[in-house]
Amino acid sequence: MGSPSMSVSDSKVMATDRAAVNTVDRSLPAQLRLQAARAASAVIDGGRSSNDAFDAVLSAQSLSGRDQAMVKEIALGVIRWYWTLAEIVQRLLQTKLRNKDRDIFFLLMTGVYQLKFMHIPAHAAVDSTVQACESAGKPWAKRLVNGVLRNYVRRAADIESQLDSDAALSAHPDWIRARLVAAWPSAWKQIIDANNARPPMCLRVNLGRISRDEYLARLCKAGIVAANDPQVATGLIVERPVAVDALPGFSKGLVSVQDTAAQLVVPALDLRPGQRVLDACAAPGGKTAHIVESQPALAEVVAVDVDSDRVGRLRATLARLRLDAHCIAADASRPDTWWDGVYFDRVLIDAPCSGTGVIRRHPDIKHNRRPEDVEALCEVQARLLDGVWPLLAPGGKLMYVTCSVFPEENQHQISAFMQRHPDAVVAPLPMQAGVDCGVGRQTLPGIDAMDGFFFSMLKRGDNRAAQVK
Ligand SMILES: C[S@@+](CC[C@H](N)C(=O)[O-])C[C@H]1O[C@@H](n2cnc3c(N)ncnc32)[C@H](O)[C@@H]1O
Repeated sequence: MGSPSMSVSDSKVMATDRAAVNTVDRSLPAQLRLQAARAASAVIDGGRSSNDAFDAVLSAQSLSGRDQAMVKEIALGVIRWYWTLAEIVQRLLQTKLRNKDRDIFFLLMTGVYQLKFMHIPAHAAVDSTVQACESAGKPWAKRLVNGVLRNYVRRAADIESQLDSDAALSAHPDWIRARLVAAWPSAWKQIIDANNARPPMCLRVNLGRISRDEYLARLCKAGIVAANDPQVATGLIVERPVAVDALPGFSKGLVSVQDTAAQLVVPALDLRPGQRVLDACAAPGGKTAHIVESQPALAEVVAVDVDSDRVGRLRATLARLRLDAHCIAADASRPDTWWDGVYFDRVLIDAPCSGTGVIRRHPDIKHNRRPEDVEALCEVQARLLDGVWPLLAPGGKLMYVTCSVFPEENQHQISAFMQRHPDAVVAPLPMQAGVDCGVGRQTLPGIDAMDGFFFSMLKRGDNRAAQVK
């Protein structure tokens, strides 16, 4: 109420201000829930990548870094746990929602995700999600959402004990789960659990610019807790992930974000001064940059990628790190279109793949990949291997890498390649991590505390003389 000396209109203004403050206080959390629900829906129903979905929903708002992080946390949570959350919500709803109210279904999933997985007080999670119905232009749904979420708070254990489908229990689509069970009969449960966990933030220190200990001290000074990664000499693991801009010297190229498994690739290449190196599937440049950082005296690094937009990202990565490589936008499997005829001492094929080893980092893979994609990717991988193999100098080494855990993209792919190329010999890999697959090694999420990667090193067994076209 206004003070006695206030005019009627003053007190009305005050009341309006108070209402505005209340609206702002409650509408921002509601907006964040609505944007999270929209981003999740764009991935799950719209088939978009999570990066595209976040670009679309976040570019329309001016949110602080903290609020953007909240939108991403909730949206990625719904994307990651969709099959579980959808079944919980369906069991709580007494009637099936109409298709045109699918946005309310997504809001309900954001509500259950907050209650089940986030440390948000129940009343705040419920209230902000209920208010989000208003922001969505569907005030009629407030009562429904309130009732469903309060019912979940009361009966969570009971509802969850009723979940019985494989999809709801594993939060994976049936086809991925079935392939994991078939490929990894004793490890699939750990892989599934790791796929559903939030991934660690791993850094690769640019040792040409700063030592790992010095960079760790810089992080500590910036209030970021991290520790040395025992598996790689370049690696640090950050305790609580931060935005890359918060990393000291990120824009100046002191550090990159890269999983431990990805950091195992370049040391295995055994790079020597004067060598010519081909990175055949290079964008966005994580491994190209690592190659140049780790052996600055190479004769040349040629970095090829078929996607010209991604070649732009590759160039940006190199520019940020102040590194140089010869970047080419071309189909690496068609060397007649781009190769200058000079053999390479080392070739890296970091092949396009199903990405089933990095689901914890990209949960949209669970939604956007289809079984038929795997077959198509296997064909591309075989074409790349066959197309690039003749470019290897005598005694040279070709490393084939994927971030897949499916054998058909990995050991089966390499075994088939060796049938077609009797001059290929499997060379040892200087790493302990992962499982020995005969023609390579496989790290598995949940078993090595790193992403799921496959590595194979092949050497030419013939005496062909190096030549220049
Ligand atoms: C796994 S990603 C590479 C990641 C990269 N090596 C890194 O560390 O940042 C696979 C890449 O292969 C590229 N690619 C797919 N088919 C290709 C082809 N035929 N020739 C060259 N690049 C190809 C894709 O555009 C994609 O950028």
